[in-house]
Formats: sequence, C-alpha cells, structure tokens
Amino acid sequence: MIVLSLVLFAILLCFGFVLLFGAPYLPTLKPQVRAALELANVKPGETLLELGCGDGRMLLAAAHVGVKSVGYELNPILALIAWLRTIKHRQMITIIWGDFWRQPWPETEAIFVFLLPKYMKKLDTKVMQYKHKPVKVTSFAFEIPGKTPAAVRDGVFLYEYDL
Ligand SMILES: C[S@@+](CC[C@H](N)C(=O)[O-])C[C@H]1O[C@@H](n2cnc3c(N)ncnc32)[C@H](O)[C@@H]1O
Repeated sequence: MIVLSLVLFAILLCFGFVLLFGAPYLPTLKPQVRAALELANVKPGETLLELGCGDGRMLLAAAHVGVKSVGYELNPILALIAWLRTIKHRQMITIIWGDFWRQPWPETEAIFVFLLPKYMKKLDTKVMQYKHKPVKVTSFAFEIPGKTPAAVRDGVFLYEYDL
C-alpha cells in the first residue's frame, strides 16, 4: 500500500511540476497533427522541433513523412514513453528530457507547440532570438499575441518568422 501510494505520488509529481514551467499534458489529436505538418510544409530531410513533445505522436507522424525531429519533454514519464514509442526511428527522432526554455534549440525548419496562452508571448520572444534561419511555427489551439497567422487550419495557427 505504501509502495503504491509512493508510486502514485511520484506520477502526480511528474505531471504536476511541469505546470511551473509550461503547459500540462494534453495530446494533440490526429487531424491537428496532420494540419500542423501540412501547414509547416516540412519536406523529407528537413527538421521539426517540438517544444513539449508529450508521448511523441507528432514526432512519429513527422518520421512517417521523412521529416527528422527533435522533441523536448520535461515530464520524465512522458519523455520515457516518447523515447520508447520512437525507438524504431532513432535515426530520425531525438527525444531530449529537459526544459525547452533553458536549452539551446537545434537548427530547424519548423517548430510545433501546444502550450498555454500565457506562454505564447515568451515563445515569440524566444523564436525572435533564434539565430539560425527562417522558421515556421505552428501552434495548436493558442495564438501568438500581436501576430497575424499566415494560415489557420483545424485550430492550428501557422506563423512564419523570417529572421
Ligand atoms: C499540451 S501538452 C502537448 C503534448 C504534445 N506536444 C502534443 O501535442 O501531443 C504540453 C507538453 O509540454 C510539456 N512541457 C511543458 N512545459 C515544458 C517545458 N518547459 N519543457 C519541456 N516540456 C514541457 C508537458 O509536459 C506536456 O507534455
């Protein structure tokens, strides 16, 4: 009983402490995964960065169309699930357990997020500081304040940054 309580407490802690740094876990549904990939128009050989990759579903969908990806995930349970789910695609998919606000972002053509409204301005600032090349940002559910999306489909907003 004590062991079970400790396990439950640890699981709650993993899902709870993420709230201090970003959005809680809620998976993106298939139509929105498809919409995000189509809007970002990432091509085989290009890279997608997912900030908070959850169970890895977006990364898997990207791999199926030949797109490499990197996913940051703070929740260790989800990071492990994503790592295991994507194990067959290790050449294409990298899972990084950590806080994406505090890590350097790799070079990428596109970024996908499903966060919370209160983080969208911070995201905008961070993308503006991103010093690589033009990047497309797709966000499920939440808009970037003060920016007009280049396109919207199925609740996914596309933003184009020409840095
Ligand atoms: C709303 S869920 C979306 C999950 C996944 N992107 C999807 O669309 O299915 C947000 C995810 O971001 C993760 N997350 C929140 N803040 C984070 C941070 N600062 N660094 C890394 N991951 C974070 C959460 O643990 C959660 O899995």
